Amino acid sequence: MNNEIVCIYYSRTGKTERTMREIAYALDCELAEVHDNVRRTGALGWLRCGLDAMRRRTRAISRVETARPLSDYKLVVLGTPVWAGRCSSVMRGLLKRRGYEMADVAYVITHGSEEAYRGIFDQMDQYLLKPHVADASLRPGSTGYIFWRDQFLKDCAGFAGVPLRPILEEEAAEANREAAASERPRVETPQNSETEQ
Ligand SMILES: Cc1cc2nc3c(=O)[nH]c(=O)nc-3n(C[C@H](O)[C@H](O)[C@H](O)COP(=O)(O)O)c2cc1C
Repeated sequence: MNNEIVCIYYSRTGKTERTMREIAYALDCELAEVHDNVRRTGALGWLRCGLDAMRRRTRAISRVETARPLSDYKLVVLGTPVWAGRCSSVMRGLLKRRGYEMADVAYVITHGSEEAYRGIFDQMDQYLLKPHVADASLRPGSTGYIFWRDQFLKDCAGFAGVPLRPILEEEAAEANREAAASERPRVETPQNSETEQ
C-alpha cells in the first residue's frame, strides 16, 4: 500500500462507498469514512439531507481514521454523493473543518441523473488553500462510468507518482449494479445537536 494517497468518503446508501472502494483498490491506498451522526435514513432523513445541502448547513463530523495527518498525504481523494445539486453536507462539513489541512485534493461525486454537476467542484474548492487537481463526476451503473473512473485514476496516479492496479471489471460491475439497486441505511444514531450555518 502506498502512503502518498488517502481516499475519504461519505456515503448514505453505499454507491459512493462502492466507487471509492474501487478507487482505493486501484490506487492501492488507504480508505476512510466520514459521517456526521445525523439520522439520514427514511423519508425524513432524505428530506433532512436535501435541506441541509440546500442551506449549506453542516454539523459536527466524525473522527476520520487515517494513518497519517491529512497534511502528510500528497493527495487526498474525497468522495461524496450529490444532494440537491450540491455536495453532501457531510462532505461540506469535512471540507469546512479540515480542508485547510489538505495539500492537494481530488474529488469524486456520484449522482443519480445524467447531469455532470461540474459546478460542485468549484463550490468545494472554496474550502481549500488551492484548487483541486483532478475530479470525476460518476453515475453508478451508467455506460460512461468505467471510462471516466479510469481517466480519473490515471490523473491521480500520475499526480502522486504511484502505479495503478487493474480493477477486475466483472466483479466491479456486479458490485456496482448491486450498489445501484440498494438503499442501504447508513447512520442510525440520534441527531447531533451541533449545527452551523
Ligand atoms: C437528498 C438527496 C438529494 C439528491 N439530489 C440529487 C441531485 O440533485 N441530482 C442527482 O443526480 N442525484 C441526486 N441524488 C441521488 C444521489 O446523488 C445518488 O443516488 C448517489 O449516487 C448516492 O450516493 P450514496 O449511495 O453514496 O449515498 C440525491 C440523493 C439524496 C438522498
